[in-house]
Amino acid sequence: MIVQVDPVREVASLVERIDRLRRVRNAVILAHNYQVPEVQDVADYVGDSLGLARQAAETDADVIVFCGVHFMAETAAILCPERTVLLPDLEAGCSLADTITAEQLRAWKAEHPGAVVVAYVNTTAEVKAESDYCCTSANAARIVESIPADREILFLPDMFLGAHVERVTGRRLTVWMGECHVHAGIEPAHLDAMLRDHPDAELLIHPECGCTTPTLYRASQGDLRGVPITVTSTEGMVRRAVESPASTFIVATELGILHRMRRFAPAKRFVPASADAVCPFMKRITLDKVAAALERMEPRVTVAPEIAARARRAIDRMLAVSG
Ligand code: 13P
Ligand code: SF4
Repeated sequence: MIVQVDPVREVASLVERIDRLRRVRNAVILAHNYQVPEVQDVADYVGDSLGLARQAAETDADVIVFCGVHFMAETAAILCPERTVLLPDLEAGCSLADTITAEQLRAWKAEHPGAVVVAYVNTTAEVKAESDYCCTSANAARIVESIPADREILFLPDMFLGAHVERVTGRRLTVWMGECHVHAGIEPAHLDAMLRDHPDAELLIHPECGCTTPTLYRASQGDLRGVPITVTSTEGMVRRAVESPASTFIVATELGILHRMRRFAPAKRFVPASADAVCPFMKRITLDKVAAALERMEPRVTVAPEIAARARRAIDRMLAVSG
């Protein structure tokens, strides 16, 4: 006999199970903007890396279920050592965070004595522990501006975000040549193709994208016919989508964000710059795994106290500067 599975009923029963377990465990579910729609819908909070770090720092729940990637769960564990942090799939890593190790950072610092180290949140706890400041795409420029102008800054690990921060602040940074394979793959040619089909669209670009610098350069040369362009964090992109008078947007970042944009601005049209911009790590988190994590209370993410204490200084400095 063939048993037919009704996917709608299956999702509904998983959501019920998660709701029951969330109450029993006194858990909060935090999800990044790139999570699959059904995971975003079950979360207590959905947002960018900065918003998620703030939520983790402020929660009074006993358990944090982190629907995102490993470095984000580590950040929550650093901020809340007394809480249990669950990451439903430990294989949810990050190709950008993998571009620099603590050992490489120590060697880089030794070549630049006296430099201030600003590490993007997409780094391991060990790398944060070697850094002076943490930053996210939402506050990177503000963090850099808070550092005295005569100090050299080592900025890591994303070269495209580094170039963007240089452009916004007018500061020269020494930048690590790392990249995220998802965002680096979004190229100017993708935007050109989309702009041909949607000539009235506004461009929303994440600063990790490979297309950011060439696109802003071409706009400055008048090559893009005055198309409005906003370069910002994922949460900033959602905000701009809601507030902008435009009705069509070309979205240059991971596709998961389209769900939130369509939810908050249902009358507007959102088209991805590249249909290939899918983060395989973010997509490892499923409703099944969220339910299983709450049931078994694992997999847990912990950070060794000595590393956590040093990494926390960098995160606390970021939170102090960005409010
Ligand atoms: P934000 O959501 O902080 O903009 O970061 C994007 C990102 O790459 C997360 O992996
Ligand atoms: Fe890392 Fe890129 Fe995925 Fe973000 S989109 S988690 S930077 S691999």
